Amino acid sequence: MITIEAVSKRFAGPKGEPVDALTPVDLTIPAGQFLSIVGPSGCGKSTLLRIIAGLETPSDGKLTIAATGVARPIGFVFQEPVLLPWLSTLANIRFPLDTGGVPRDQADATAHRLIKMVGLQGFEDALPHQLSGGMRQRAAIARALSYDPPILLMDEPFGALDLLTRDRMNDELLQIWRETKKTIVFVTHSVEEAAYLSDRVVVMSARPGRVRAIHDVDLPHPRGEATKLDPRFHQFMATFRRELK
Ligand SMILES: Nc1ncnc2c1ncn2[C@@H]1O[C@H](COP(=O)(O)OP(=O)(O)O)[C@@H](O)[C@H]1O
Ligand SMILES: [Mg+2]
Repeated sequence: MITIEAVSKRFAGPKGEPVDALTPVDLTIPAGQFLSIVGPSGCGKSTLLRIIAGLETPSDGKLTIAATGVARPIGFVFQEPVLLPWLSTLANIRFPLDTGGVPRDQADATAHRLIKMVGLQGFEDALPHQLSGGMRQRAAIARALSYDPPILLMDEPFGALDLLTRDRMNDELLQIWRETKKTIVFVTHSVEEAAYLSDRVVVMSARPGRVRAIHDVDLPHPRGEATKLDPRFHQFMATFRRELK
């Protein structure tokens, strides 16, 4: 579904000098796959995700996203939840539908279903500043899901959360993925999160960013507490950690 062929990105640095953020990356992401990208800070993870989203153009190479038949195929969840501060949780979640011309009652029904899916019932009318960080991130995820994009791109979405909340969000995300069969590209610097969530993990190395290794994580689904006790889960984590050094 997503094909990345020899995609590279060169930025201009502060003095106009070239900065290679990404050296040629080749990657094919089949529809419905949960793929994670791990790598040290500054290795080009966000750049790669932004290129897939069309928020950034590659300096070289080719990106192809197979026709999905929908107007907006991609949902993007940023590291810091981007919500409109003057809109309620419900209004934030339905915002893409309202601006996309979806009829009011249909948008209402969708937004209420998503509120339930991400566990924000009772907080429909709360403003973003009245929500915890984890709740804001769940609202941002619900908003990215509101127009039902077949592709979900997530840039370290749980990086700022405490470990308990992160664990819970991981399980909620896996459930959403099982229920909606989306293609998910998930950026994280946590080897545990990558091993727990993914079908496939791309390990990137430090600047200039390049793909160091790609692993199929063939741990059984559905993932849960048993996964975390599986010795192979720990082997995957140890391998990723070694490759990150
Ligand atoms: N708009 C930009 N202009 C110049 N340099 C950039 C820009 N965006 C990112 N970079 C540089 O590209 C490299 C990769 O950045 P980024 O993709 O954000 O890394 P990561 O998400 O892995 O931390 C970094 O060295 C960063 O400073
Ligand atoms: Mg980043």
